[in-house]
Amino acid sequence: MKKDLQDAAVEFAKKKMAAFDAGHDWQHIERVRRMARHIQHKEKAGDPDVVELAAILHDIADSKFRKEDAEDSGSMAYRFLVKQGLDPVKAKAVRNVIDHISFSSGFSDREFDSVELQIVQDADRLDAMGAIGIARAFNYGGYKNRALYDPEREPAQYDSPGAYRKSDAPTLNHFYEKLFLLKELMNTTTGKEIARERHDFMVAFVEQFKKEWNPT
Ligand code: ADP
Ligand code: NI
Repeated sequence: MKKDLQDAAVEFAKKKMAAFDAGHDWQHIERVRRMARHIQHKEKAGDPDVVELAAILHDIADSKFRKEDAEDSGSMAYRFLVKQGLDPVKAKAVRNVIDHISFSSGFSDREFDSVELQIVQDADRLDAMGAIGIARAFNYGGYKNRALYDPEREPAQYDSPGAYRKSDAPTLNHFYEKLFLLKELMNTTTGKEIARERHDFMVAFVEQFKKEWNPT
């Protein structure tokens, strides 16, 4: 693939994401891109161009910030890539990854699958786990003005993306509602291996947190 196209995609994504909170800023994209590349090398599968472009463009219209009727990331990425002269078949493959990557779209059965989706989705999920995942969760909670923890509030099980999004639960609940579930959702062998360490680290963190909350 032309290096130019990657550079143009980076510029495009940076511009689109300039308004997001720090949990979803440009550094998230760089980390997902590096991790996706790493998983792809290890797994020796998938089209590297599709993986790279999907990682760069996967959050350009984050649903948490976007108005209901605004264009989604997948369609925006597709239009951009075709306009840049990319083969529409490849552009569609990128779009398919972006359309199906998110945790909240996992509420319905998977209606699309590809190696590239498995790789980029693992990379995106891994960035919500471990030390960085913890930092991102509390950063997001702060942005939304949420409590760190409330022992009175039981973690919930959401049955729709809307209910999941609307929740104003304390940030510690997010570990039970999403972050602890990610380990089981990993697609690739490489992703599973990395997830194990990050999962255990989060479990230890939450244990320590609760111990400090109730010292007696
Ligand atoms: P996805 O696109 O997979 O649904 P999000 O965009 O919801 O993921 O999440 C982006 C980051 O913000 C992740 O690190 C995630 O854990 C964090 N986050 C999302 N919702 C919450 C929440 N209710 N409380 C704390 N952190 C959250
Ligand atoms: Ni992401």
